[in-house]
Amino acid sequence: MHIADRLLKTPPYPFAELARLKAEARAEGRDLVDFGIGDPDQPTPDHIVAALCDAARDPITHQYDETGKGLPEFRQAVASWYQSRFGVSLNPDTEVLRLIGAKEGIAHLAWAILNPGDVALIPDPGYPVYKVASMFAGADLHFMPLSEASGYLPDLSAIPADIVRRAKLMYLCYPNMPTGAVAEAEFFRRAIEFAAANDILICLDMAYSELYYDGCRPQSMLQADGARERVIEIHSLSKTYNMTGWRIGFAVGNPEALNALEKLKSNVDSGAFLAIQRAAVAALTGPQDCVEKMRGIYQRRRDILIKGLAGIGWRVPKPKATCYVWAPVPKGYTSAQMAETLLRGAGVLATPGSAYGSCGEGYVRFSLTVQGGNAEARIAEAVKRIKEKVRVNT
Ligand code: MLT
Repeated sequence: MHIADRLLKTPPYPFAELARLKAEARAEGRDLVDFGIGDPDQPTPDHIVAALCDAARDPITHQYDETGKGLPEFRQAVASWYQSRFGVSLNPDTEVLRLIGAKEGIAHLAWAILNPGDVALIPDPGYPVYKVASMFAGADLHFMPLSEASGYLPDLSAIPADIVRRAKLMYLCYPNMPTGAVAEAEFFRRAIEFAAANDILICLDMAYSELYYDGCRPQSMLQADGARERVIEIHSLSKTYNMTGWRIGFAVGNPEALNALEKLKSNVDSGAFLAIQRAAVAALTGPQDCVEKMRGIYQRRRDILIKGLAGIGWRVPKPKATCYVWAPVPKGYTSAQMAETLLRGAGVLATPGSAYGSCGEGYVRFSLTVQGGNAEARIAEAVKRIKEKVRVNT
């Protein structure tokens, strides 16, 4: 069988590899505490499931979504949510586009914006899809290192002038996966100024905008002056409403970029199930106390994990947002060695930071979406196992 070079050059998706390791452990009868993929263990709230059931009984939802951009009531719900959450008013006809999950939009955007030889600016560490999609589009990649010292914000002035000249798309992610950092308005202002001066589109991945702690409420880039000409923001209902399997998200912002993405998508997908779009309306316009409750759940898990690890000599900073804990590995391990030792030694599954880029080396990522029973007890169990089986103090 002939397989395309572009695919042969692509590493396996990190979570496909973790799924394989999990299946292997299960087959051997080993118990794993699973801090791997960020996949909420809590169910989708009842009122959203009920809305899906109702909508699925209406045969009109069984047909194609011929709107291109998504159901008008879905786009209106997104616009209303943006207004109440961020104080940003969006035109639902031109500034909102429905996606089949954030991942799909992030990937297809690269095809819509980049020509071969253009440069994509990509945060490192970062969601692997930014890199792979840009590579598939034939673009050259320029990685923007994110470090703890700089608050996990890229240094835009460090990007070489010849790269800036060819750059057409910059991916950013705040709240940041995998580091849990948030960006302030001042960084957003500088990034927009940079993008405007250099004719670059910014794609801000906001999949984690609602998972924040300690009152640190993330803002939208679209609140800044000039953002609408330069920015699209991508959201997912996956993490906000525990809807990963439903595959529904949206892009908002610059109409020209959204038109290009819509045109690309109309050639490769046929929209999202209409019943899911109606359920998404229920999610966005319905009671939001489920989101508050979920933040409380992750915050408690975060604190149990960080306190537990500190108690055994592994000091890890508290993330301000996201469902991830970005843990510097103790001296003497690489990321991969630490992940391997946690897995084989302690039956604890975490993602090696190096899966998110070379600047992720030296870290492992724990997802707080712990599967399989009482998550707080499972976290305590993981800390106990790490204490017994893994050298963590430096
Ligand atoms: C993650 O764990 O980073 C995400 O859930 C994976 C994904 O969205 O593909």
